[in-house]
This record gives sequence, C-alpha cells and structure tokens, in this order.
Amino acid sequence: MTTNIAVLISGSGSNLQALIDAVDDQRIPHASIRCVISNKEDAKGLERARNSEIEALFCDASDFPREEYTAKIIKILTQHHIDLVCLAGFMLILSPSFIRAFPYRVMNIHPALLPSFGGKGMYGHHVHEAVIASAEKFSGATVHFVDEGCDTGPIILQEKIPVDPCDTPLTLAKKVLALEHRLYPEAVRLFVEGKLEVIENKVQVKL
Ligand code: GRF
Repeated sequence: MTTNIAVLISGSGSNLQALIDAVDDQRIPHASIRCVISNKEDAKGLERARNSEIEALFCDASDFPREEYTAKIIKILTQHHIDLVCLAGFMLILSPSFIRAFPYRVMNIHPALLPSFGGKGMYGHHVHEAVIASAEKFSGATVHFVDEGCDTGPIILQEKIPVDPCDTPLTLAKKVLALEHRLYPEAVRLFVEGKLEVIENKVQVKL
C-alpha cells in the first residue's frame, strides 16, 4: 500500500526537496507526494514541486477567516486521499479542526531542540538568534506530531549538534538545516513503515 503525503510550505522548500529526494530514491519506500500546498504564490517550493511533476497548489489565505481557510485545506487533502501531512516551513497556524481531521497524521519540523526555543514567535532566524543569545552549547532539530498547541506535539525524532563559540545565527541555521534534511525523511519513513505509535501522548518508535 502507498502512503499519500501532502507537504505544506510557505517558502524555499528545502525540506520539501529532501522529502522528494527521499521518496524518489526509495529511502522512503511505498510513499507518494501527492500535492504541495503553499499560502505564498512565489514560494520556491512550488517550483520544486512542479519540477518533480507534483501537483503544486497556491492557496491564498488572505480574505479568508482562519476556519474557512482550514476547511478549504482539509477539502483538498481529503480529495487527494492524504494519509500524512508534512508541514515544512508553513507559516500559518490552521484552526484546531485541522488537527482533529488528521490526528497524529500531521508532522512538523522545528529548527531547535523542543520544548526549548519553540512557541509563538520562534520561527526562522528568531530561533537561532535566541539559541546564540542564551549561549547554548547545543542546538538541533525536532520532528514532532502537531497538536492544537504551538510546537507542543509529541516528539518523533530529535537530534542535537554543537553550537560553536564562533557561530552566528546564520552559520547555525545552515548547520541545523542540513540536519533537518536528514531527520525529516527519517521520521516520515518511520511513519510510512508503521513504526510510530503514540501512547499517552508520547511517541514510541517500534524497531
Ligand atoms: C526550516 O528551518 C524548518 O525547520 C522551519 O522552517 C524552515 C523551512 O525551511 N519549520 P525550508 O523552506 O524547508 O527550506
């Protein structure tokens, strides 16, 4: 059986590319990326999707109340028979009905070691600036299931990297992004292979 995946993006889509590559070269077997949805028309990720002959949809969120926009996204995902939704730099927070429609079937990647450096306002360069400002010795990346909170869902995979004294938010972002590109496909593979079980809001990886 094939697992149908949708990826939601707002920008560059380098994590999307990592997922496309992993599906293409069978590191994620028995999976198909059925569509890519962006709330930004000029997102580079849409171009990446088209280059791989994946349906690329621009869904404008302006002029829509959040609930209505969420319903529109749910409709598209349902029409495409989506089993797993991967948020990859998607900058909108959808309404809770989204999570209820896809319980433990929405993943996100965050460029830090959650639960630290997560939550409202912690996105993009803000995360790496905060890590450096706190003089942390380590940062990393986290893939988690999305719940109704902001960056609070059960953690699937997490890996750390050292923060060097000479790191700037920019150099740290680059190192973390390289890690993300390895971690996200790995988490999706575990999902596709049925190896993720959520018990009492904690993810257990079945070996
Ligand atoms: C990544 O750093 C990811 O952790 C965060 O948004 C960024 C998206 O980057 N959620 P890209 O569009 O995948 O290059």
